Amino acid sequence: MKIAIGCDHGGLRLKNEVIKYLQEKGIEYVDYGTYSEESCDYPDIAIKVAEAVASKEQEKGILICGTGIGISIAANKVPGVRAALCSDTFSAHATREHNDANILTMGERTVGIGLALDIVDTFLNTEFEGGRHIQRINKISEIEKKYSK
Ligand code: RB5
Repeated sequence: MKIAIGCDHGGLRLKNEVIKYLQEKGIEYVDYGTYSEESCDYPDIAIKVAEAVASKEQEKGILICGTGIGISIAANKVPGVRAALCSDTFSAHATREHNDANILTMGERTVGIGLALDIVDTFLNTEFEGGRHIQRINKISEIEKKYSK
C-alpha cells in the first residue's frame, strides 16, 4: 500500500507522528509537504495529495491541518476524491466500509496523537463493503460530472 501524506503548518507535528507510525509499520508513503512550521495555505497541499490519489498514483491519502476541515473541503473538490474528516475510530471504520473514502483528514488541534494513530490504523485496515454502497458512490460521481466543465 502506498500512501500520500500532507499537511499545512497547523498539522505538521501530527503529520510527523503519523509518518513515524507508517515507518514503523513498513508502509510506503510519499510526503507532499509542508515541511516547516512556516505558515502556508492548506489548499496548496490538499491538491497535491488529492491529485496523487485521484490519479491512482497513490492508493490512499492522509491530510492534516489545524481542524482537518479546510484541507478536507479543498481535497473534495478534486473529482474522484472522497476525503473524510475523522476524529473517532467508528467514523474511520464506517467511512471506509460505506463511503470507500480514499483520503483521511484529521485536525492536529482536535485529536490527540494516540487517538489519531488509532484512526489511521483503522482507516488503512478497513475494506470497502461494496454491495448497496456502490450505487451511492456512483451517485456522488454523477454529481461531480454534472458540475464539471
Ligand atoms: C491554519 O491556521 C488553519 O486555519 C488550518 O490549519 C485549518 O484548521 C483550516 O481549516
